[in-house]
Amino acid sequence: MLPPPLILLLFTFLIQISSSFAAAAPPLRHQSHFTKRSYHLKNDNKLSDSYKQYFEITRPLPFDTLIPSCTLPVFSKNFSNTAGLPPSTVDYSPPANCTWSNVTLHLSVASNGSQHDRIAAVWLDGAELLRTSTADPTAGGVFWNVRKDITRYSSLLRQENLTLSVMLENVVNGVYTGVYRLNLTFLYYDTENNESRTNGVNFPLSLFPLNQKSTILKRGKKPVNSTLNRDENSLHLYEKPANLIVPVSGNGDKGFWFRIENGSDVKNIGIQIPSNTYKAVIEVYVSFHGNDEFWYSNPPDSYIEMNNLNTKRGHGAYREVLVTLDDNVVGSVIPFPVIFTGGINPLFWDPIVSIGAFDLPSYDIDLTPFLGMLLDGKVHSIGLKVVDAISFWLVDANLHLWLDDNLKEVKAMAIEYSIPKFKLERELKFNQLDGSFEIEGKRESEFSGWVNSSMGNLTTYVYEELKFENTIKFNKNGTEKVVEQTVRVKRKLRVKSSTGSSISRTTVRRKYPLKITSLTLTGSAKNTYLVTTNLEHSLTEKKSDENFSSSLVNSQKSGGWMFVRDNDVLSGAATTHQSYTYKDDDSCYSLTVSAANGELRNDTTSLLCSSSL
Ligand SMILES: *[C@@H]1O[C@H](CO)[C@@H](O)[C@H](O)[C@H]1NC(C)=O
Ligand SMILES: *[C@@H]1O[C@H](CO)[C@@H](O)[C@H](O)[C@H]1NC(C)=O
Ligand SMILES: *[C@@H]1O[C@H](CO)[C@@H](O)[C@H](O)[C@H]1NC(C)=O
Ligand SMILES: *[C@@H]1O[C@H](CO)[C@@H](O)[C@H](O)[C@H]1NC(C)=O
Ligand SMILES: *[C@@H]1O[C@H](CO)[C@@H](O)[C@H](O)[C@H]1NC(C)=O
Ligand SMILES: *[C@@H]1O[C@H](CO)[C@@H](O)[C@H](O)[C@H]1NC(C)=O
Ligand SMILES: *[C@@H]1O[C@H](CO)[C@@H](O)[C@H](O)[C@H]1NC(C)=O
Ligand SMILES: *[C@@H]1O[C@H](CO)[C@@H](O)[C@H](O)[C@H]1NC(C)=O
Ligand SMILES: *[C@@H]1O[C@H](CO)[C@@H](O)[C@H](O)[C@H]1NC(C)=O
Ligand SMILES: *[C@@H]1O[C@H](CO)[C@@H](O)[C@H](O)[C@H]1NC(C)=O
Ligand SMILES: *[C@@H]1O[C@H](CO)[C@@H](O)[C@H](O)[C@H]1NC(C)=O
Ligand SMILES: *[C@@H]1O[C@H](CO)[C@@H](O)[C@H](O)[C@H]1NC(C)=O
Repeated sequence: MLPPPLILLLFTFLIQISSSFAAAAPPLRHQSHFTKRSYHLKNDNKLSDSYKQYFEITRPLPFDTLIPSCTLPVFSKNFSNTAGLPPSTVDYSPPANCTWSNVTLHLSVASNGSQHDRIAAVWLDGAELLRTSTADPTAGGVFWNVRKDITRYSSLLRQENLTLSVMLENVVNGVYTGVYRLNLTFLYYDTENNESRTNGVNFPLSLFPLNQKSTILKRGKKPVNSTLNRDENSLHLYEKPANLIVPVSGNGDKGFWFRIENGSDVKNIGIQIPSNTYKAVIEVYVSFHGNDEFWYSNPPDSYIEMNNLNTKRGHGAYREVLVTLDDNVVGSVIPFPVIFTGGINPLFWDPIVSIGAFDLPSYDIDLTPFLGMLLDGKVHSIGLKVVDAISFWLVDANLHLWLDDNLKEVKAMAIEYSIPKFKLERELKFNQLDGSFEIEGKRESEFSGWVNSSMGNLTTYVYEELKFENTIKFNKNGTEKVVEQTVRVKRKLRVKSSTGSSISRTTVRRKYPLKITSLTLTGSAKNTYLVTTNLEHSLTEKKSDENFSSSLVNSQKSGGWMFVRDNDVLSGAATTHQSYTYKDDDSCYSLTVSAANGELRNDTTSLLCSSSL
């Protein structure tokens, strides 16, 4: 995804390339970002009278079927020429006289005309609530909805007179005409008192034209409300919402995210935390753009230099977001490779967008073992950086803090700190345009520390194993490119009492494989290419603690071709098949859906989950 000023730059850049380096290798040797403007102009003139809906496949939220006790329309704006401007802001106060325990954010967006996909975010008091991106509109119009459980931000949502900010940089001109019309609503639920009241509507499913075949299966042994006590946003470790959220973010002039330009670009902020903090989790939000939009497919610089290629999408294919505390690394994230709607082959993401495109995952890192360092009453520096980054990454974080109601001060001390540098083995073999590049690495980190609060003297142990594998192969004189990547994370969190008895044991395993095969043939007309691509990727997550276990398998498989001029898709065909299965001890949700050439296919099914996990 490109911000507007860069798009213009890239545009002139491309024109220069094509005039002075007409014989150079096709720029499409690298995964690219496209627009469907011409494609739509040709294919969408059968203007339907209703806007077309886009989807990110996900499961319903547990309180979607309840009647909200209050509904607050918080923000509404048409984003037209907003490039380079600060985010749009409104005052936020929670609804008056409303009893609530849980909150859903509902974003709805509509647009018609032609436009690039854009990155967007929502912040409350500088703390990020949502990172999202947009679909490419058509002349006939498109719309979509995003729903997210934002209960974990309750401590902010209960405060009066905060500033809510929304950033979406857009450019509207004679060519790119699409204005993004955006509404943001918060729905407040009192799940304790209104649990049995359902409105009979299941939001994400009701948005589906094919919802008749989708079911939510309850296994029936436990009372229905037992499913309602679990954290639903799958990448998170917390149980009840934090008492305080400290944003680790910028000053807001250009959005609260930090723009990270290179591997040595570190953004630090000073924080001072309350002396009665007994638990701390930092939640990292991240997205990648410009020359790192497809970082997982970037070849090493030596390949680009030796072949005289005209691309800046280099630096190899390993990136890692690091979180530092007083310059010591205390956690890291290799992000899930979210593909925006203009990415790889934009016809794949119509109308089912890529995993995470409308609700980018955030990543939790437990900092409780480090409270001994943070609780000395002094200001400490929290930093964010991206190893090997090239321009640019948008990164910020929220520090969630849990406070002890019964004490003014808790005592804490770090015990163990071990986070070895990622030892990567890199192997590169190439002969002119053909070659193969492999990167492989594994790291085990261990942290522990005790916190003596009114709950007792508890020691928290964090163990994390991170494995990274990436292979990029160029065949057929560089016209065929195969990218394969797998990220595996295993994280164990143990809390023990001073007598050594176990208070809690949580294990989270996450895996995200990606495979992209693409063949690029040069067309007979100037700067035209035929690109045939197959893509498979998934997000698998298994969580368990002593009482509960859950698993999610979300995978997409796409295939198709497109004929392009520069970065403009002229024609093509594509199919995407997605299967989403979530199971936990109480419930099960499963959906398979596919789309071909921009239409949902009539083969949506819900699988009945078997009764044994
Ligand atoms: C390989 O590609 C390069 C650049 O496109 C071209 O100059 C060269 O002739 C090609 N070689 C073969 C054997 O096709
Ligand atoms: C329960 O839902 C009803 C219907 O929306 C609402 O009038 C009532 O205030 C809710 N009860 C509580 C305690 O929020
Ligand atoms: C956005 O534009 C639409 C039509 O183009 C208009 O009806 C609506 O009032 C505008 N909304 C805002 C918040 O300006
Ligand atoms: C809130 O409820 C109280 C007591 O029922 C009432 O006096 C007050 O006017 C209400 N405020 C609003 C904003 O509705
Ligand atoms: C936004 O809200 C307005 C007013 O309720 C409505 O007319 C419009 O259709 C909504 N737009 C979207 C994109 O949901
Ligand atoms: C969007 O739709 C409205 C109403 O149908 C129309 O007036 C407007 O010209 C369209 N905008 C673009 C950019 O096509
Ligand atoms: C929020 O602002 C309103 C209006 O300015 C004011 O009456 C109220 O006291 C403020 N609330 C807080 C908690 O500062
Ligand atoms: C769940 O329901 C049971 C009985 O149906 C009740 O005793 C319990 O308090 C409920 N739990 C919650 C968290 O509401
Ligand atoms: C609702 O929020 C409470 C905390 O406010 C949490 O304990 C509970 O698990 C949440 N319910 C659901 C269904 O997520
Ligand atoms: C990295 O980016 C920062 C921020 O834009 C800049 O100040 C610095 O000079 C850059 N460093 C290198 C080595 O390019
Ligand atoms: C808490 O427990 C740890 C290890 O179990 C011990 O080393 C430490 O002294 C204890 N702290 C206090 C304040 O008792
Ligand atoms: C899907 O197929 C079923 C039967 O095969 C048919 O009844 C239904 O109308 C179809 N739905 C759509 C949207 O084509």
